[in-house]
Amino acid sequence: MTSNKKLLILPGDGIGPEVMRQVRRVIDWFDQRRAVSFDLSEGLVGGAAIDAQGVPLTDETMAQAMAVDAVLLGAVGGPKWDALPFERKPERGLLRLRKEMDLFANLRPALVFDALADASSLKTDLVRGLDMMIVRELTGGVYFGSPRGIETLPDGTRRGINTQVYTSPEIQRVARVAFDLARLRRKQVCSVEKANVMESGILWREEVQAVHDADYADIQLSHMYADNCAMQLVRQPKQFDVIVTDNLFGDLLSDCAAMLTGSLGMLPSASLGAADASGRRRALYEPVHGTAPDIAGKDMANPLATLLSFAMLLRYSLNLGDDADLIERAVQKVLAGGLRTADIVTPGATKVSTSGMGDAILGELDKLAA
Ligand code: IPM
Ligand code: MG
Repeated sequence: MTSNKKLLILPGDGIGPEVMRQVRRVIDWFDQRRAVSFDLSEGLVGGAAIDAQGVPLTDETMAQAMAVDAVLLGAVGGPKWDALPFERKPERGLLRLRKEMDLFANLRPALVFDALADASSLKTDLVRGLDMMIVRELTGGVYFGSPRGIETLPDGTRRGINTQVYTSPEIQRVARVAFDLARLRRKQVCSVEKANVMESGILWREEVQAVHDADYADIQLSHMYADNCAMQLVRQPKQFDVIVTDNLFGDLLSDCAAMLTGSLGMLPSASLGAADASGRRRALYEPVHGTAPDIAGKDMANPLATLLSFAMLLRYSLNLGDDADLIERAVQKVLAGGLRTADIVTPGATKVSTSGMGDAILGELDKLAA
């Protein structure tokens, strides 16, 4: 008898609620058909929270996030809230969750599904079979460094300031996550920074190398400058297994890697904190894509990135690898059967709506579990 797993669902803005609606149907399916059962609570984050509660994340929702086994988030932001002052923007809700839950390791897989290899903007043979993982540091660097702000100098000139800063423990802990993941994969890590122009990059390179030499000699480690990495990602992406990099470079490179797969609408992510004494890690799962305001509310969005984020939740937070496999197989089957949401539709495929994709996934799950 498995005890109830506590999940906090934060659908957020734009297409977030409609893709999450489909994922909740799948969560209910697992609740009814598999050994695991869930205690679900739902909350507001981002613009939705600003409209209803006046802030992008209330203290109550923050406290709930700290207490549950895992958080599943849709997406935050949109033009409606663009004019708000920086501290009250929807994105601050997400950044607060990351920082206060101490989710320092952001896992962003870029995986090309066989059925979608020709949806990539790169030539099919460059991406077919691509399976890489970007490990992005998520609670440090220029996103959170101080001093920061905009100031006016005595002569009236304005100056904007942000600080790129990393300490050795911050680098070491995310490097360990990358090396541990590589051990379960092809045993290669590429560490990415700009050691040619930034002191924080020099420190990054030295610390990653030291962690490697002390504990991970079985892993092949290479170092690359971030600009070269961007170029190599579109030139020869299959050279990479695990990339480990800082918060800002990871933000940029993961969007680039995502596009290699043909659709941002397909990619999940996991953000993990440090394990406590009982081995439990705080964790938040979310799709890599944003709120896509242009198609929100039209039942067109692709729910698969959020669904695959739920699969990562099963795998990494609940240790339910078989259940995660079930979802991934259902996704593969549905794609192989030719069903596509608008973002990945190709000639000859059958276009389905967000809810139509949900129906198809549930149908496949029923067949796989029969
Ligand atoms: C991401 C997003 C966020 C980031 C935004 C929404 C704050 O781009 O998760 O990649 O920059 O980290
Ligand atoms: Mg981003």
